[in-house]
Amino acid sequence: MTIRAQDELRALNEELDRKVAERTAHLNAEIVERKKAEAELKKKTEELREMTQQLWQAAKLATMGELAASIAHELNNPLATVSLRTESLLARTQADSPNQRELEIIEQEVERMGVLVANLLQFGRRGQQQISTLDVREEIEKTLELVRYHLHKHNIIIEREFAKDLPNVHADRQQLRQLFLNLFTNASDAMPHAGSLTIRITAPPESRQIIVEVADTGTGIPPEILPKLTEPFYSTKPEGKGTGLGLAICRRIVKGHNGTFDITSEGIPGRGTTVRVSLPVINGTNATGLKNQ
Ligand SMILES: Nc1ncnc2c1ncn2[C@@H]1O[C@H](COP(=O)(O)OP(=O)(O)OP(=O)(O)O)[C@@H](O)[C@H]1O
Ligand SMILES: [Mg+2]
Repeated sequence: MTIRAQDELRALNEELDRKVAERTAHLNAEIVERKKAEAELKKKTEELREMTQQLWQAAKLATMGELAASIAHELNNPLATVSLRTESLLARTQADSPNQRELEIIEQEVERMGVLVANLLQFGRRGQQQISTLDVREEIEKTLELVRYHLHKHNIIIEREFAKDLPNVHADRQQLRQLFLNLFTNASDAMPHAGSLTIRITAPPESRQIIVEVADTGTGIPPEILPKLTEPFYSTKPEGKGTGLGLAICRRIVKGHNGTFDITSEGIPGRGTTVRVSLPVINGTNATGLKNQ
């Protein structure tokens, strides 16, 4: 082979090596790019799956709420009739008659159904809020009047820790009372024999919020069930005792007032549970931007 031929061959070889190196680098870059795209796709698919799941859950709850409300609505009238008839039968029954006790049981059960129906109706309700200027302390006192006897019977002491000079809030009175009633009822259920119910109200000026804490010294809540509590129909109470709608309603009411709702508990019996509700106070009021339920 001539020297020239050898040089040409070397040059060709070098050219080939260069091209192979170039192509390999290109392919490597393509592989990295493709892997990145695959990872991106996987992330997006996961996000999509999660969103579908959430949408499904939301749709399920919305339908369930509507369904529950329509059934509750249908039940309202027959229940009222049964209640009235029982009342009139009871009025005409001698106190020593064996029917008396039976009728009383019917009356109690009908009353329980009435509470359930009212809860379901409230849950499915999407009406306008009736907003007025309210003193939270007053609404708490009015609500306590409803349960005072019940709490006393269960040896539950009420402790009030109300800060001075609390601002008023703009809120729906009925909803606020229902919120507190549900919280007091839960606290009382958690302390069947005795305990204390502390109601704390503060309004740190810099936070522009009114904060209401309802703390009990009851059974507490195990950490693993804490996230489930505000799900509709979640209840640990015996069949017929709880509908599992109380906290779901509370959460919805608070959200409807642009507030926050938190439940904390160490899950240790006796250390109890604290529910913290905050309602915004904007320029001395929380009226701006209130959402319809
Ligand atoms: N203060 C509390 N202490 C301990 N457990 C609580 C407390 N509040 C709520 N819970 C737990 O949360 C569950 C859900 O409460 P929620 O008020 O939503 O329903 P419920 O009280 O079971 O029934 P309902 O309020 O509809 O009659 C309760 O069954 C109970 O296990
Ligand atoms: Mg409850």
